[in-house]
Amino acid sequence: MDVDTGIDDALGIMLAVGSGSCDILGITTVNGNVSMQQATINTFKILQLIDRTDIPVFAGADTPLVREPRFEHSVHGNDGIGGALTEMQVDQQVQPQAAHEFMIEQIMNYPGEITLILTAPLTNLALAIQQQPEIVANVKEIIIMGGAVNEYGNITPTAEYNMYVDPEAAKQVLRAGFAHLVLVPLDVTRKVLLNNNHLGALNRTAQPEIAGYVRQSTSAYMERYEQRNGVKACAMHDPLAVAAALYPDVISTTLYHVDVETNSDLCDGQTVCDFQNRLGKQPNVQVALTVDHIAFFNIFLESLSKLKVT
Ligand code: BDR
Ligand code: CA
Repeated sequence: MDVDTGIDDALGIMLAVGSGSCDILGITTVNGNVSMQQATINTFKILQLIDRTDIPVFAGADTPLVREPRFEHSVHGNDGIGGALTEMQVDQQVQPQAAHEFMIEQIMNYPGEITLILTAPLTNLALAIQQQPEIVANVKEIIIMGGAVNEYGNITPTAEYNMYVDPEAAKQVLRAGFAHLVLVPLDVTRKVLLNNNHLGALNRTAQPEIAGYVRQSTSAYMERYEQRNGVKACAMHDPLAVAAALYPDVISTTLYHVDVETNSDLCDGQTVCDFQNRLGKQPNVQVALTVDHIAFFNIFLESLSKLKVT
């Protein structure tokens, strides 16, 4: 998993661990919602909360490839996880290997077996491709939360945040030639909205520390969504990408050619999906366009309810 933890990245990690459906070889962190260093601390805190400090964490890029960082404190809070777990002390150590080197090592050691789930700007994967292009043919699957194909953006009118922060990296990833690349864009993530009913369900079924954490970390995130949309809820962007990796039936996808704009005043970071193949290019991305939101929340609530705490 490659993350910029992030309220929803944290919930994605919790879903993955709670599901029991995957072997998480490591978590790599990157600059995004918060600095890479803060994303690393947040990742450690989540792993400590759910009693999985055995999962190794690798620090990645602390800036996009060529641009300046663009944090999202207004959405995720100053600390990135909505002010939850502020008292928790972190004593885990980051691994000595760089994030992109860990990706390369795992993919080349286990050809055809590794799935990468990326819920952050794509800087680490772009660095891995630059250093070892052979990973492209040897990875099993890439699942990316990012982009907006028929939808408006969430950071500019046309761009989704992860694509916008490092569009040069996104372009390298999309053009690399991966055989199985799934994009989980805002078109579907905006349809999985966590609300008070879900929080109530977690109160009944999950450990109190887990239910309490989810409520606290999403509180301001939900208020912000309510101010904009009139409904108290928040989108589970990153958890949907994790669920789609583990339970592919939760989304349905269509193969299209997708690229990212990197050279426009207005539209940098926009994902352009060639629905009618007007450019005549080879389709490169399985784009998720529909989601079974009921199935998603069943998976989400069940997974979080299975988490143990320290
Ligand atoms: C994406 O941007 C980040 O703010 C979230 O963590 C998610 O990965 C949604 O556009
Ligand atoms: Ca994220």
